Amino acid sequence: MDNSSVIIRDVMLRDGLQNLKTVIPTEVKIELFRMIVASGVRHIEFASFVSPKAVPQFADASQVARAVLAITPAGVEVSALIPNLKGAQLALDNGVRRLAFVMSVSESHNISNVRRSTAESIDELKKILALKATHPDMIVDVGMATVFGCPFEGKISPKVVLQFTQRFYELGIRGMSVADTVGFGNPKEIREVCRLCVSEFPDVAFSIHLHNTRGLGPANAFAAYESGIRIMDGAVGGLGGCPFAPGARGNTATEDLVYLFESMGIKTGIDVGALLEVARYFQRVTPDIHFSSSILEAGLPNCLGAITKDGTEQKWS
Ligand code: COA
Ligand code: ZN
Repeated sequence: MDNSSVIIRDVMLRDGLQNLKTVIPTEVKIELFRMIVASGVRHIEFASFVSPKAVPQFADASQVARAVLAITPAGVEVSALIPNLKGAQLALDNGVRRLAFVMSVSESHNISNVRRSTAESIDELKKILALKATHPDMIVDVGMATVFGCPFEGKISPKVVLQFTQRFYELGIRGMSVADTVGFGNPKEIREVCRLCVSEFPDVAFSIHLHNTRGLGPANAFAAYESGIRIMDGAVGGLGGCPFAPGARGNTATEDLVYLFESMGIKTGIDVGALLEVARYFQRVTPDIHFSSSILEAGLPNCLGAITKDGTEQKWS
């Protein structure tokens, strides 16, 4: 296992925007994408192909897709969330090749979110996977929502999570995200579920998606890292939340994750200063929106110039 680096996937343009009442102009989304790429982020989830009646924010997903694909440099991965076959078709028609199919491991949240039972969502996933016949370069990852608790059903047993993981594995899925959609998880639970997933399915690239509702986001991210997870979702500014999960608050801020890992010498490849510029740009454009990011608020610790007891200069790197 590579202990020296992590991949931080930024989901601000998807999760970060989906809960905002203000519809963000397409050109602002494209500028945010450009700035996030410039900061060194190598994987960006840029939109959802969902019903515009359900989430008006993404009515422009096709335009955003075409624009961001035109400016995506080599080595940067882009993906979009899809809840159904129609979303997959729209994403593929607009050139997107990496699709993040979302479903909940809680029956009630799945119905609230995508208006389907979990069995119906799995049938939908099979139909999406059949599109490989015409789109052989398509990659479908699965995002499992409410893994660490559901606003309607409470805690979810790790056994249930493993059963879903097994189903997705049998369907050929090798990229899976475990999500704490409402921020119910603690490091002990994160460690338990992540260790089980990683040990039972060693050839699956698992990622973790953490909402920082009660301040445990960074602690949970580190617990996931210690359990072998090397792909972490974050959203610039700590924005985010599921509109169909009461009590959902923002994602763990990408800049807080970058600080967490880089301060321990674990490389992210991301320039935290450039990332803060993204947040500040968005703050200027949307002054009424609440951000939730410790590093945006407090800045990096200014160790430069501080002298340690042995007389050397302290540095943060
Ligand atoms: N993209 C765009 N439009 C879509 C769509 C998609 N992926 N899926 C459905 N639609 C449209 C249909 O064309 C139809 O339009 P019409 O009323 O103009 O004919 C309408 O939405 C309803 O279609 P239907 O198949 O009946 O879907 P639904 O009403 O059962 O809605 C979802 C199901 C999943 C499409 C909807 O609940 C949804 O988009 N949810 C968003 C979930 C989400 O983003 N959650 C947060 C992320 S975790
Ligand atoms: Zn989320």
